[in-house]
Amino acid sequence: MPSETEMTDDPGADRESLLFLVDEALGYLSSAALRAVASAGVADALADGPLTLAELGKQVGADPRALYRVLRLLATRGIFEELGDGRFRLTERGRALRSDGPMSARAAILMLTHRTLWRPAGEMEGCLEKGASIFNDLFDMSFFEYFAQDAQVAMTFHSGMAAMSDWENAPIAAACDLPESGVVVDLGGGLGGLLLEVLLRRRSLFGVLFDQAHALAGHRLGARETDGRWEAIPGDFFTEVPPGDVYLLKRVMHDWDDDQCVTILTNCRRAMADGGRVLVLDAVIPPGNEPHQAKAVDLMLMASLTGRERTADEFARLFEAAGLRLVRVVPTGTALSIVEAVAAAT
Ligand SMILES: C[S@@+](CC[C@H](N)C(=O)[O-])C[C@H]1O[C@@H](n2cnc3c(N)ncnc32)[C@H](O)[C@@H]1O
Repeated sequence: MPSETEMTDDPGADRESLLFLVDEALGYLSSAALRAVASAGVADALADGPLTLAELGKQVGADPRALYRVLRLLATRGIFEELGDGRFRLTERGRALRSDGPMSARAAILMLTHRTLWRPAGEMEGCLEKGASIFNDLFDMSFFEYFAQDAQVAMTFHSGMAAMSDWENAPIAAACDLPESGVVVDLGGGLGGLLLEVLLRRRSLFGVLFDQAHALAGHRLGARETDGRWEAIPGDFFTEVPPGDVYLLKRVMHDWDDDQCVTILTNCRRAMADGGRVLVLDAVIPPGNEPHQAKAVDLMLMASLTGRERTADEFARLFEAAGLRLVRVVPTGTALSIVEAVAAAT
C-alpha cells in the first residue's frame, strides 16, 4: 500500500491527472465568455425566445461567427442551448444573466470579471513572491483609491456588490438578532440593500447607511415604509463611525488586513452605546478541504486588496484586539455567517 504522501508509478493515473489539470487551466475561458455575453446583453436579447445567430448578432451588435463560438462553449456549461435549427436559446440555468428581474447576476458578473479583479488574479504568482496584493504594482494606486477617482468604475463595483447581495440580504436580515428600536449602522453598506431589508423588518428602528460618497450616490433607501427612519452619512470608517446600538459590517472585514480591521472595530467600540453589538457578516472559512465559495473569494482579496477570509478563531482575535468579545457565530443559510461581538468586560 502506498502511503498518503507517496505517488505510485502509474502512466494511466498520470494521463488522467494531466487531462484534469489542462481542463482546470482552461477554466478561465468560461469566465471570459460569460463576461462577453453579459457585457453584450445576449441574455436580454433571448428573453422572448430563441434567435438565429444573425438575428442575435444584429440585436447585440456582435459578429455572428464570433458569437457562435462563445455561445458554443457556454452551451457546454448549460447556460445556453444550441437548437437543431441553428437558433440558440437561454436555459433556466442562464436566466439570471438577464438584466431585469429582482435576481440578476449580470452586474455581479461584470464586477467579478472586471479588470481590477481579473488582472491581479491573472498574475497571482506575483502575490506568492510578494506575500501581498499586487494591485498597486499594476494600477499605481490601491483598489479603493482606483474606484474613488472613476465614477463609472465605482458604479460597476457598487452595482455588482448589490447584485451579489440582493438574494442574501433577506435571509441574513432574518437571521440577525435585531433590537425592536434604537439605531442600526450599516458600515460600508454600499447601496443600502441590507439596511433597507432590516428597516422593513423592524418598524421602530432607525438606520444609518455609512459609506464613501461615491457609493451613497446610488443608494436604494427611500421606500415609503422607511420614511424618516434613515440617514445616509458619507465618511471613512478608519477615522470615525457614527454612534449606534448595532453595527453591521457585511463583506467589509474581509476587504482589510488585521490591523485595518482592528482600527475599524475599535472605532465601533468607541462609538457604540452601552449594551451595543457588532455583527460582522462575512464568510467563516471551514477547516480542511471542505469546499466553500469563500476560498475562491479569498484569492481575489489576496490579489487585489489587503484583506482575507477568516476562520472563527481569527475573528475572535480581531475582536479581542479591539476591546470586543466574540459571543456567537450564527449561520444564515447563505455563504455568510453572523459573527457577533459585544464589548469585552473592562
Ligand atoms: C465589499 S463592499 C460591501 C458592500 C455591502 N456591505 C455589501 O455587502 O454588498 C465594501 C464597502 O466598503 C466601502 N468602503 C471602503 N472603504 C471605506 C471607508 N474607508 N469608509 C467607509 N466605507 C468604505 C466600499 O465603498 C464598499 O461599499
